[in-house]
Amino acid sequence: EDEEKLAAFQARIDREEKIEPNDWMPAAYRKTLVRQISQHAHSEVVGMLPEGNWVTRAPSLKRKAILLAKIQDEGGHGLYLYSAAETLGVSREELVDQLLSGKAKYSSIFNYPTLNWADVGAVGWLVDGAAIMNQIPLCRCSFGPYSRAMIRICKEESFHQRQGYDLLVAMMKGTAEQQEMVQDAVNRLWWPALMMFGPSDKDSKHSAASMKWKIKRFTNDELRQKFVDATVPQAKVLGITLPDPDLKFNEETGHWEHGQPDWNEFYNTIQGNGICNKQRMKDRIKAHEDGAWVREAAQAYAAKQAAKKSA
Ligand code: ACO
Repeated sequence: EDEEKLAAFQARIDREEKIEPNDWMPAAYRKTLVRQISQHAHSEVVGMLPEGNWVTRAPSLKRKAILLAKIQDEGGHGLYLYSAAETLGVSREELVDQLLSGKAKYSSIFNYPTLNWADVGAVGWLVDGAAIMNQIPLCRCSFGPYSRAMIRICKEESFHQRQGYDLLVAMMKGTAEQQEMVQDAVNRLWWPALMMFGPSDKDSKHSAASMKWKIKRFTNDELRQKFVDATVPQAKVLGITLPDPDLKFNEETGHWEHGQPDWNEFYNTIQGNGICNKQRMKDRIKAHEDGAWVREAAQAYAAKQAAKKSA
């Protein structure tokens, strides 16, 4: 690709212009966007599974309705994101194939089990909380369709985060056993939530290019720090302890110093060997196969409508 085109492209990014699907873009920019947006879409869709586990066991009608609404939102997020990726010239079938064949990544977090009802709250508070921290800056991403999809997604994620916190507050007002369930859920999900932001900056191979192209506005470590800073005071209000002995407020920087997640566990998980990877893929493949008739029916209906029009 010639130098002049690249320079003009970077100048547009630097001027904060949005890049739209029909605009010229470097092949590497297109490739990293397809990678990130599709991984993001897959995460939303696989993310329905750990919560789906609790729909039939929600403790009240109100909690069940909230949970159902949230899971439906995640499915919708997946659809907007697949549509945004499709504007870059890949088909949804291709992306879904990559997921189901194990070629594509999705967020490490969804390979952890949800063992008790408090996990539903902790997923909302910590997982959706981390997701928002990462996704608000994506509303300002340089690629138009991705940035616009993120606006509605972030609004919905913030409802998800609040319902999670609200659920945990309710349990913390309950019995000692319920309080223990909350602490147990937080103990298990805290480190995996920190891993959602990706490897440390020194090990993040895509960050430099993505920052230059303004796909990412903050590095992985910067967002992880923002998340820790926002979450520590919320944990205090809740009355639970975060499982990090190194958490310490630094008066000078105004930030909470924190420990590092187990990065071996992270790499193991994203390579497909986490606690639930195999189960998640098995469930996704089954859901896709069980949904074949819906896709066929929609196609048959579209063909019928097209035939009517041309008649
Ligand atoms: N889970 C799975 N894979 C990850 C994770 C994670 N938590 N973090 C990083 N990776 C992968 C990257 O995808 C990349 O793999 P690849 O080269 O095979 O594609 C590799 O690890 C190296 O990481 P980075 O160079 O840091 O990758 P990147 O610049 O893409 O940053 C990040 C990773 C922060 C996750 C970025 O892709 C992003 O912001 N994505 C959009 C948000 C998103 O996908 N959220 C999903 C979870 S939230 C939810 O669904 C509710």
